Amino acid sequence: MKTIFTVKELREALKPVRSQTVGFVPTMGYLHEGHLSLVKRAKETADVVVMSIFVNPIQFSPNEDLSHYPRDLERDSLLASKAGVDFLFVPTVEEMYPAGSKTMVTVKEITESLCGASRPGHFDGVATVVTKLFNMVQPDYAFFGMKDAQQVAVIQQMTKDLNIPVEIIPCEIVREEDGLALSSRNVYLSEEERRQALVLSHSLQEAKAAFSRGEKDAAVLRRIIENTISETLLADIDYIEVRSYPALEEIQTLTGDVLIALAVRFGRTRLIDNIILTASQEEALCSVR
Ligand code: PAF
Repeated sequence: MKTIFTVKELREALKPVRSQTVGFVPTMGYLHEGHLSLVKRAKETADVVVMSIFVNPIQFSPNEDLSHYPRDLERDSLLASKAGVDFLFVPTVEEMYPAGSKTMVTVKEITESLCGASRPGHFDGVATVVTKLFNMVQPDYAFFGMKDAQQVAVIQQMTKDLNIPVEIIPCEIVREEDGLALSSRNVYLSEEERRQALVLSHSLQEAKAAFSRGEKDAAVLRRIIENTISETLLADIDYIEVRSYPALEEIQTLTGDVLIALAVRFGRTRLIDNIILTASQEEALCSVR
């Protein structure tokens, strides 16, 4: 695995492999099995795999955890290399945003709800850095975890709107055996917070079970989750939302692909999780009647 720190070096290194397909896994580092599953998928799909590690300051608000965000390049390099990454791109903030940069990428509407509402400006930061990374790496495929389902929708919309020639491959959420979705932020949790954080996946499973029994009312499914999480002492709900996916429109009755997403704080740690349910049009019409 070759580790690269500048855009110039990256372009030079990728020149000889341009006749092959390039798969790209953008990350903010502190790698876990979720990231490594993206690399596995990238290796199955493309000839050459590029991973970036960049803690993107412009997607954090001033009150967020930028300065504390976990970092360990030595450990990450080892994991990336073992997983089969060919090129590891680790730009500095100055390399990514040279003095005088004036351009931001904004995706409208689908960035205004869910995490976009709780974290103003977050998706402008994500869309900008991902556009820049796509221009730097010029991948054929890019791999993103569905734990950030809204981020996947935003990036798909952005690549379509800006005619960026890359195929976005959404990849399944990877969970611990007990159901907790993997996240670099899980390391912030105390033992007790970690135990109570299981309520995220449990409450989503309860909603899914109700849906399987025929419940198609978005407000009812939302309430099932809210009631379960509210019983958990350390959980502080940021949002619980039931929306169409990927348009992220508000819905009353489940029809088509539906995202049930939540963000919950445990102490200073904000965790997100979600499931996507698919309801057939006919069933939804029946339940409306
Ligand atoms: O999902 C992430 O880790 C980040 O939002 C991304 C896509 C690497 C952009 O900084």
